[in-house]
Order: sequence, then C-alpha cells, then structure tokens
Amino acid sequence: MKKWMMLGLVALATGHAVAAGNTIKVGVLAEMSGTFADFGMQITNGAKAYMKQYGDTVAGKKIELVIKDTTGPAPDVAKRLAQELVVQDKVDFIVGFGLTPNAFAVAPIATEAKKPTIIMNAATSAITTKSPYIARVSFTLAQVTEPMAQWAYKSGLRKIYTVVADYGPGHDAEQTFKKAFARLGGEVVGELRVPLKNPEFGPFVQRAKDSKPEAVFVFVPAGEMAVGFMKAYYERGLAKAGIKLLSTGDVTDDGVIEALGDNALGVISTHQYSAAHPSAENKAFLAAYNQINPKQRPNFMAVGGYDGMAAVYEVVRQLNGNINGDKAMQVLRGMKLNSPRGPIQIDAETRDIVQNVYVREVKKVDGRLYNVEFETFAAVRDPGK
Ligand code: PHB
Repeated sequence: MKKWMMLGLVALATGHAVAAGNTIKVGVLAEMSGTFADFGMQITNGAKAYMKQYGDTVAGKKIELVIKDTTGPAPDVAKRLAQELVVQDKVDFIVGFGLTPNAFAVAPIATEAKKPTIIMNAATSAITTKSPYIARVSFTLAQVTEPMAQWAYKSGLRKIYTVVADYGPGHDAEQTFKKAFARLGGEVVGELRVPLKNPEFGPFVQRAKDSKPEAVFVFVPAGEMAVGFMKAYYERGLAKAGIKLLSTGDVTDDGVIEALGDNALGVISTHQYSAAHPSAENKAFLAAYNQINPKQRPNFMAVGGYDGMAAVYEVVRQLNGNINGDKAMQVLRGMKLNSPRGPIQIDAETRDIVQNVYVREVKKVDGRLYNVEFETFAAVRDPGK
C-alpha cells in the first residue's frame, strides 16, 4: 500500500491525522483578561486582520490560531500555557507576548521544543538573546529611546528628568536615554521608577516638577498607565510650568490617545507606528482591522500581531508547509517585510527588528487626535545589543 493511502486510512480511523497534517497551528500567548486585556485584543485582532486580508490557507495548509490567555504579567502562567501549546496542542509556532516577563518565561521552552517563537510586542532588548528560536517583529525600548535623546538635544533641551515603569523595558528606556543624552552633552537631572502594579503617579510627577527640568521623558506601557501618567502631569501643573513632555509612543498610543484628550496635544514621542502613517500598506491594514473590530483604532501592538502573521505565512510558504524549527529560524533571519509602519527587517544575526523610528507630535486630524510623524530615523537597529 502506498504511504499516502495508509495516511488516509489512519485519518479515517482517528479523524485527526488529516486535520493535523493539513493545518499549521499558531499558538498565541497574550494578555486577554485583566488590566492588560487590551494588549491581547490588539495583538490577536492584528493577527486576525492579516488572515482576513490574505486568507487562511498557505501552501495548501490551513492556518489556525490557538489563543491562550496569560492574564497579565504572569510568567508562571505563560510558561504553563506554552508547555500546553507544545505538548497538547502540538503547535508549529508560538507567537504573541504583550508583556516582557511572559516572553522571558517562555524562552527556555522555545529552546527545548525548538519552536519558532515570534514576539509581537514585548520590548526589552534582552528577550531575543534568551533563545535562538526567538525572533521579534515589534520594537525595543532602546531602539525608540535613543532617537528621542538625539531629537531632544538637537531641539535645544539640556536638562531632562526621566520617569519609567519599573521593569525590563522601563530600565532599558531609562539607561538608553541617560547614556545617549549624556554622550551628546545633555544631563539627566533626576530619574524615577514607577511600579507596574497600582501606580500612584501624583507624587512621582510632583518630584519631577520640583527639580525643575526643561522636560520630562517618560516610558510606561501603553494603556491605563499612560492615561494615569498624563492625568497627573496636567493635574500637577507641569505643562503650565513650561516643562515639556517627551515620551515613547507607548504613552500616546493610538489605542488610548482619544482618552487622553486635548491635553495630549503637542506631546512629542518617538515610535515605530502611527495609525496616521501615510502609506498604501497602512491603509490596507486599517481597512482589514476595521473588518475585525470596527470599534477600536489599531495600535502598534495590532501591527505587531499583523506583521508576526506575515512572518509566519512567509515561513510556511518557503518551507512549503513542512515546519521545522531550525529551518523556520533560517527563513526568519534576514526576512524583509513591507509593514504598515514602513519597511522592516529581522536582523540575521540578532533576530531582532530593524526599522524606521519616527518622531511624532500629537495633533488633530479631521477632529481626532493622532501622532503625526514629522521626522524619520531610518533603519534603526536595537542599540541594546
Ligand atoms: C513590555 O512589557 O515589554 C511592554 C509592554 C507595553 C509596552 C511596551 C513594552 O507599551
């Protein structure tokens, strides 16, 4: 009996073999509930938008998402769910990761199981060094912060106070800003780290104000923390005192920018994606996302989800549907994609992303708040490597 006929019989007997053979399973680990539920929603909707735009079949295989909820910054949960994805669901890829601690927790499993793992958001530089099976399509805090330090100095600012969330990406942002700004001749006159859980921004912001800097540079993860920081910044009168606000794009994120209100007008930020980015790719992305969730504006995490799926599709295409961890990583290394944010590349050596970083200002476009890009740092590598 020919091999394919035997496979067919097995399939008839179990009802599973054919499905397994014809399906590429993509395990998604994301924050689908709790304070960070928006991260998971943006990431999974971005992934779904890609599938909507390009169909769910590649190289004759059906692409299937298996979504698991990490519930927040919960390394133990992330680790257990990754094990489940590998052992029970037998996924071909692991993707997702809004938050850094969850990505770190899963790195050893990626290595042990040789699973190609694609980071769609988590942005601490060191993540990609923790497993040769990890590639990143999002960004790093160091990558978007260094251009901000350069822009600030060029704009004449010399004394800046930094405020960051007290965990991996915040530490990267703080250290990168300080180093880059000092190298140019600027001075960080004070620095504060705010806890990730239940932050009270008022007292922190007050301390920044009291040391009379020319500007405050801030990174906190997108979402509720960004809203909380902005509120305190205005309530404590920093804007009135003439202290400028510089941030990474996480703080003026497309997902919350309307909630920030007109107070956000004029805030300068650096980041890789704005929903206002003028390109055909972005237009197509926004239209596809709108079909998945017409109620929410997609943000940089949604783009991470979308581009992560583009990377998965390219691997499946090039390997003709036969996924092998090492071969998949070979395809991912050096991969170039036309993202809604502009051209991106996965560095062949570090497996980290190379991309444009834009300087943007919050402005009204057709009556709605957007980050309007006005300067580009082209093809920026992660300086944290
Ligand atoms: C992260 O945990 O790495 C992270 C989360 C949210 C952001 C940026 C980085 O906006």
